[in-house]
Amino acid sequence: MTIAQCFESAFDFEKFIALKFEDIGFDVRINSKENEPGYDFLAIKGDRIVAVQVKNYKNKVSINQVLKFRDYMSRSNIKEGAIISSKGFSAPAISSIAAEKVKNFHMGHLEDNRITWDYLSKSIANKDQVRSSSHYISVFTAKGGVGKTVISAHLGGALAISGYKVSIVDGDPEENLYRLTGKRAIVPNSRTGKNTTVNVCKMSDWGSVKKNDESIIVFDCSPSLERNNIELLKKTESFIIPTSLSPLDIGNKAEVLLRTMEQIRECNKNAYIFILLNKYYSPSVMDKQRYVEVKKIISDLNDKCVLIDPEEDVSIRESKILRNWGSQPDLAFKTVAGRCYPRDDFLKLAEYLLEHLNIEQ
Ligand SMILES: Nc1ncnc2c1ncn2[C@@H]1O[C@H](COP(=O)(O)OP(=O)(O)OP(=O)(O)O)[C@@H](O)[C@H]1O
Ligand SMILES: [Mg+2]
Repeated sequence: MTIAQCFESAFDFEKFIALKFEDIGFDVRINSKENEPGYDFLAIKGDRIVAVQVKNYKNKVSINQVLKFRDYMSRSNIKEGAIISSKGFSAPAISSIAAEKVKNFHMGHLEDNRITWDYLSKSIANKDQVRSSSHYISVFTAKGGVGKTVISAHLGGALAISGYKVSIVDGDPEENLYRLTGKRAIVPNSRTGKNTTVNVCKMSDWGSVKKNDESIIVFDCSPSLERNNIELLKKTESFIIPTSLSPLDIGNKAEVLLRTMEQIRECNKNAYIFILLNKYYSPSVMDKQRYVEVKKIISDLNDKCVLIDPEEDVSIRESKILRNWGSQPDLAFKTVAGRCYPRDDFLKLAEYLLEHLNIEQ
C-alpha cells in the first residue's frame, strides 16, 4: 500500500502535502472554496506565492491535466504553480513541460514519505531532492545466441526515441555489440530524416565514460554469469531474459530459464525479471503447449518474475531485418511503406517496461 492510499479522503492527502511544504519553510493557506477548480493551497515564502494543486488519483497525472492547470494559471494570473501527485506523471506530461523548460512550474510526487520532484523549474527545497539515479536493465540468458545483443541495442534505441536518456553498455567481454555499432548506435527516423543516437560503451570503459545523467542504462550481458560485472548485476533493477519457445533455447522443461533465474538470484534477490519471447512467429500447437507449461513453471516459483504474454503484450518477431542486422551502426528501425516490425515491437517493449517500472525520464 502506498502512503497516498492510506489517506481516507483527498482532503487528508492534501493536508499531508501542505505539511510537507511547511516542513521546508513555506506558510500554507488552504483554499477554503472547496469546489473551486484550480489550486488546493497557496504555499508562501517571502515574495514567492506558489499555487499548489494536489492530485490523489489511482493513475498517473496526464498531459491534459497538466495543460488544464497551466491554462488556469494563466487565466488567473498565477505566477508560480505546482502539481503534487500521489502516483506521478505520464512521460508525455513531464516532457511537455521539460521540453519547453517552463520557468514557473513544478511537478512532484509523494514517495517514501517525501516529495520527489519530477520537474523543478526553480529550487523549492534542496536541489538534491531532484531524483537523478539511473535505472539499470540487464539483458541476460544463461545461453548463447538467443538475441541478448540484438535486444539490448534495439531496446536502447526504442527508449531513446521515447524521450529517455539512455546508454548501452556492452557487458560481454566478446564485445559483439561494440564491434557492430562503435561508440554510437544510430536510431534512424525515416519520416523526418533526423536520427537519434545512443551511446554505447565497452565494459572496460564504463567507469570513465558514465555521466550519471542517463535515466536508463541497458547492459548486454555475456551468457556466462561469471564473465559479467557482478557489481552491475547487483545494481540491476530489471532483468530481461530473451528466449524462444524452441526446446533448444528454453530447455525441455524450461531448465535454461530456471538456471538463468537461479543465477540471477545468486547475485540479486530483488530485481524484477521479465522473460521475453524473441524470434517469435505464428506458434504451432506444440509451441502453445510449451508456452502453457512454461507459464505454469514460472508462476509456481512465486518470484518477481513475469513471462511476457507474446500475443497479448509483447514479443519480438522473427524478422530478416534483425537476422541481417549489424553491418552498420544503424538500428533496424527503417520504415518501409510506413511499416517496420522491429520498430513496432521494440517500442511496444519499451512502453510495457515503462508501464511496469517506475522509471524517471
Ligand atoms: N527477432 C529476431 N529475428 C531474426 N533473427 C534474430 C532475431 N533476434 C536475434 N536474431 C539473430 O540471432 C543471432 C543471435 O543474436 P544475438 O547475437 O543478439 O544473440 P546473443 O544472445 O547476444 O548471443 P551471444 O550469447 O553469443 O552473445 C544473430 O544472428 C541475430 O541476428
Ligand atoms: Mg551477445
